[in-house]
Amino acid sequence: MDAIECLLGRQSTPAGLLVEPSPTDEQVVTLLQTAMRAPDHGALRPWRFLLIRGDRREALGDIFADALALREPEASADDIEKARGKPVRAPLVLAVWAEIVENHPKVPAIEQVVATGAAAQNLLNALHAEGYQAIWVTGAPCYDENVKAPLGLAAKDRLVGFIHIGTANKTTPMKERPDPAAYLQTW
Ligand SMILES: Cc1cc2nc3c(=O)[nH]c(=O)nc-3n(C[C@H](O)[C@H](O)[C@H](O)COP(=O)(O)O)c2cc1C
Repeated sequence: MDAIECLLGRQSTPAGLLVEPSPTDEQVVTLLQTAMRAPDHGALRPWRFLLIRGDRREALGDIFADALALREPEASADDIEKARGKPVRAPLVLAVWAEIVENHPKVPAIEQVVATGAAAQNLLNALHAEGYQAIWVTGAPCYDENVKAPLGLAAKDRLVGFIHIGTANKTTPMKERPDPAAYLQTW
């Protein structure tokens, strides 16, 4: 398939529709080669990926639930169970973060986060090209030190998302996209 046609065919799939098959660990490594092609000021390679499948997704859900209980002591039992259930919606979850080099003389933290976002997007496109579906989600867990720490992140690091991956159990209609001309000006 033509590359542009492939890129124009990507869209997210709600996590609740994602089932097996998901890419194998070896396929994930292969697809992550595209993430290594992200633009990267200073060649810092700030992106980090944590592969979470099987019962480790439940362990991640427990982290989400415990963090919510600490963040919002008044959270209902229902809300806590909803938080716990988030990661098990899809067969494979990749946590993606930027391991930040602080006070870099040329590359501020925001550039390291942006490079990590570009790496994540390359991965989304690669997954699409291989016939998998995915969605990038964040929410409060991404900004919660009680989620970051158990995953091995330092406070300085930035969790940019949890990419939920699998195969859609039903097709979703292609979404309309805006006219790019509305977002382009000529100076
Ligand atoms: C940084 C980032 C965080 C996001 N977080 C969420 C989220 O927490 N929940 C959600 O439903 N969508 C989230 N999205 C949006 C979805 O990934 C997706 O882009 C959206 O559903 C639109 O689908 P599309 O990718 O087909 O345009 C996030 C996107 C980005 C880039």
